[in-house]
Amino acid sequence: MDNTQNYISENKERFLDELLDLLRMPSISADAAYAGDVRKTAEFVASSLTSAGAENVEICETAGYPVVYGEKMIDPSLPTVLVYGHYDVQPADPIELWTNPPFEPVVKKTDIHPEGAIFARGACDDKGQMFMHVKAFEAMVNSGELPCNVKLMIEGEEEVGSENLAVFVKENKERLAADIILVSDTGMLANDVPSVTTGLRGLSYVEVEVTGPNRDLHSGLYGGCVANPINILAKMIASLHDENNHITIPGFYDRVIELTDAERAEMAKAPFSKEAYCKALDMEDVYGEDGYSTMERGSIRPTLDVNGIWGGYTGEGAKTVIASKAYAKISMRLVPDQDPVEITNLFLNHFKSIAPKGTRVKVTPHHGGEPAVTPIDSIGYKAASIAYEKTFGIEPIPVRSGGSIPIVAMFEKELGLKTVLMGFGLDSDAIHSPNEHYGLFNYYRGIETIPHFYVAFTELSKK
Ligand code: BES
Ligand code: MN
Ligand code: MN
Repeated sequence: MDNTQNYISENKERFLDELLDLLRMPSISADAAYAGDVRKTAEFVASSLTSAGAENVEICETAGYPVVYGEKMIDPSLPTVLVYGHYDVQPADPIELWTNPPFEPVVKKTDIHPEGAIFARGACDDKGQMFMHVKAFEAMVNSGELPCNVKLMIEGEEEVGSENLAVFVKENKERLAADIILVSDTGMLANDVPSVTTGLRGLSYVEVEVTGPNRDLHSGLYGGCVANPINILAKMIASLHDENNHITIPGFYDRVIELTDAERAEMAKAPFSKEAYCKALDMEDVYGEDGYSTMERGSIRPTLDVNGIWGGYTGEGAKTVIASKAYAKISMRLVPDQDPVEITNLFLNHFKSIAPKGTRVKVTPHHGGEPAVTPIDSIGYKAASIAYEKTFGIEPIPVRSGGSIPIVAMFEKELGLKTVLMGFGLDSDAIHSPNEHYGLFNYYRGIETIPHFYVAFTELSKK
């Protein structure tokens, strides 16, 4: 791998410049106004794959945004690594909270990233991390050290639920045949505490609408006499947690796999400072389900959160009005073996059952996804562990994450393949938030670490 590592250090500047070009493209999949930009980004990714040395590069059309595919098959008897990533990003708003425009990347130093971090939407999630794979691949190909076959599949709809990717995968099982899936779209504990993600939560996402009277009413004439949908919605939402912060939806916990005491003790070994956590978020204390640590609350326990709530008058000054309707968007993060479809139904039935007379409730399900856990005794995990150890000097810790990448469970179901989640982001990188950033250290260290995975995985596969 010496040639590869030399190639990386000789091309560092260009690797950064190219990522900055990619970050200038506003590939927001959720907003149709950016449709042209998302497509241009797919083209950028395709040409990056080609110039990196990939063959059979194709912009594969779907019912939505295209999947970009490329491969390098050097010998069918060698193992094949299928890399997955996404080129779409979350919307940038609230835009006024950015210190630089979200699609005009700048490199700035921070306390956590003293050597600089790239500030831009998608810098960490997932353009920066996805592009590490393109550059690592380029380095291995150009230095003649690619040890196995590689397939790269980069999609443009991860942030909106990957529904068309699911179709693509089902229709392209042969093309996607591989031995392992490799993804960098998660994080690690700290730059000096590398970790490998071994679990992701699932997701059920619903939108609710509560209707009271058929029109907005004068809050003096009607106040006190009718169900105010905003008051009612607030009450209904509040009732979804009990005094111990357990979720009250009947049946919600039925399929939750509880960890053993030994597993929980193992988890508790990962370094975590409540003080630092609170300080970073400017809070006096943490908050959550009784009986579980913050690490547990954010990974092995299911949760329910309101993501948005609106209705009535929110303009300047005061308007005395009882709104006809109130709305909220609610997400439930799920753990094995909860099923997103079942949970959505449990929510729907429960939410309707607690609506008082004089109101009507509509529940609209959005995209969901299944939780996933990945084994730590597999050669995929071992290869990742070896790779991190080579570049960080210490073995990574296995950590279950709270985020969701619904396609991981889908890959296992459809392709029968396990995924290795080699993430290089930090929780403090503000993904989905204003001022998202990605450390230069993380970007380069990722590019250097990935080739070691290929070597270790190829070696371990022979045994
Ligand atoms: N890359 C994230 C998920 C993630 C981030 C997992 C950090 C673990 C650590 C991904 O792009 C994402 O944001 N997923 C969404 C779900 C999707 C269906 C919109 C999420 O978790 O909210
Ligand atoms: Mn992502
Ligand atoms: Mn994301």
